[in-house]
Amino acid sequence: MTKQERLIDYKRRVLTCKDCSLWETRTNVVTGEGNIDSKLVLVGEGPGENEDLQGRPFVGRAGKLLEEILLENGLRREDVWITNIIRCRATLKEGGSVRNRPPRPQEVQMCKKWLEEELSIIKPKVIVCLGGPSAEVVIHKGFRMTEERGIWFKSQYAPFAIATYHPAYVLRQPGRAFDELRWMLSEDIAEARRKAESQDEEVAPEKTISLPPQEGGEQLNLF
Ligand code: URA
Repeated sequence: MTKQERLIDYKRRVLTCKDCSLWETRTNVVTGEGNIDSKLVLVGEGPGENEDLQGRPFVGRAGKLLEEILLENGLRREDVWITNIIRCRATLKEGGSVRNRPPRPQEVQMCKKWLEEELSIIKPKVIVCLGGPSAEVVIHKGFRMTEERGIWFKSQYAPFAIATYHPAYVLRQPGRAFDELRWMLSEDIAEARRKAESQDEEVAPEKTISLPPQEGGEQLNLF
């Protein structure tokens, strides 16, 4: 199956997922989107209200800030793959209103197979974790943003992974703190872009040809 076919098959299955109770309150399942050949993948936490309504990741206020920062670094959102650790909005009812809440460990656990399937199709070289919960899944449990932000790790999902502040967290900062964290988020995206660009192009299988056996009969890569 091609990448496209695998993604279509994945989407067909994930859109009817009822593995945790979040399906009861969701409007849409929010899968990743973007460039399926991107070496760079961004992993957020989970859909908010706008994402739930539109069925697309990072389309609310945090998404606008993220798009702005990507553009500053020469990237459009459609150049990269953008996804989340969970695919359905997690909410809390408070009085008459509904608000977002962080995903529960069991929800993250149940959704992990979908994240893993997406990542196994895209096969990124570099993952940027947006926020601590994403870093706990992609990098390691107990990740501490204040100490480990901006450091390169090897992940089971990509040779390079880095974590930075979630744009929604940056938006909540007052005054100078907002400017500082926004700057750090942008620096980390810049660093991730450089790392992705420095990864050697993989040789496409159709460009690998076999020569008739000679001295040991090894396969040569001619292009
Ligand atoms: N925050 C996230 O973590 N993901 C989204 O898709 C939107 C906001």
